[in-house]
Amino acid sequence: MSYRIPIIFDTDIGVDDAFALLLAAGNPSIDILGITTVFGNNSVDNCTENALRVCELLDLDVPVAKGARKSLFGEEKDYTLHKNNFVHGEDGLGGKRYMLKDPRKKVEDCDAVDLIARLVRRSDEKVVLVPVGPLTNIAMFLLTYPELKSQIDGIALMGGAAYGGNYLPLAEANIANDPEAAKIVFQSGLKIVMCGLDATEKAMLSKDDREMLRVVGGSIGTFYYDMVKDYVTVSERFDPNRLGPCLHDSVPVAWLINPDIVKTEPCHVEVDIVGQYSKACTVTDVLCRDNKPNAMVAFDLNREEFIKLHLDALKWLNRNQ
Ligand code: RIB
Ligand code: CA
Repeated sequence: MSYRIPIIFDTDIGVDDAFALLLAAGNPSIDILGITTVFGNNSVDNCTENALRVCELLDLDVPVAKGARKSLFGEEKDYTLHKNNFVHGEDGLGGKRYMLKDPRKKVEDCDAVDLIARLVRRSDEKVVLVPVGPLTNIAMFLLTYPELKSQIDGIALMGGAAYGGNYLPLAEANIANDPEAAKIVFQSGLKIVMCGLDATEKAMLSKDDREMLRVVGGSIGTFYYDMVKDYVTVSERFDPNRLGPCLHDSVPVAWLINPDIVKTEPCHVEVDIVGQYSKACTVTDVLCRDNKPNAMVAFDLNREEFIKLHLDALKWLNRNQ
């Protein structure tokens, strides 16, 4: 067995998060040590329920621990308001959670930060953290257990943008949900691969790709095909000319599996936490004018190879069916 990369997947599991988890669970080069949940696309309670149910669907037997229900300095969101359920549906899984079986596993009795610490201590290899939601849990882990930083091989995250934003003109949703946490992570000194909108908005799932989910994916593919339907509708409402919705969160996982698929450049990234109109902007200096690079920033990806990884993951997960 060739080397498997040990990761901890931190997520506000939502639709694209679920595709990223499928990709990680369905690729033999990734070893998911555990999953931690965080508020973001939905409440942390809903995200935790979603994580347990998707793990049941994928037959993924790993510990799941609940994390932060709000940002470091903000108030807890009211997810009953429609605007908070716009993109990923009322339940965070495109309104299709009801199709999933009750999970056999229960959530861990420790919180996300303590599960990360436990798994890192227990691992023989350095661990890669893969956060694809707000960075609250990761920041709290770094502040609570600074002595464990040496056991972290790096952070491959979905978040930010060198140019533009989706939550605000200059802010991407994961960073905007907890800018202070993001600042702590980018100033940690750890190796960071920032898979921001510059690359993830090219990670589109086309209509043909969606049909292939059902063709190669068995019952898992059929669920994913149904789950993504509303996400497609929302994407088409934003931009009817787009090839399909973006699988943002799969990009850091795809980079771990095959770095050639994602084009990255060394940059210096600072998170703005005070700007009146630029708060949560990941100010990305591609020339590193006055600073050394502190992140590899993703700017492009090979979409066809990226999608193929997902279809290969589905085939691998269905290999015994
Ligand atoms: O901006 C995209 C990010 O926000 C993704 O992680 C998506 O799941 C949402 O959390
Ligand atoms: Ca996410």
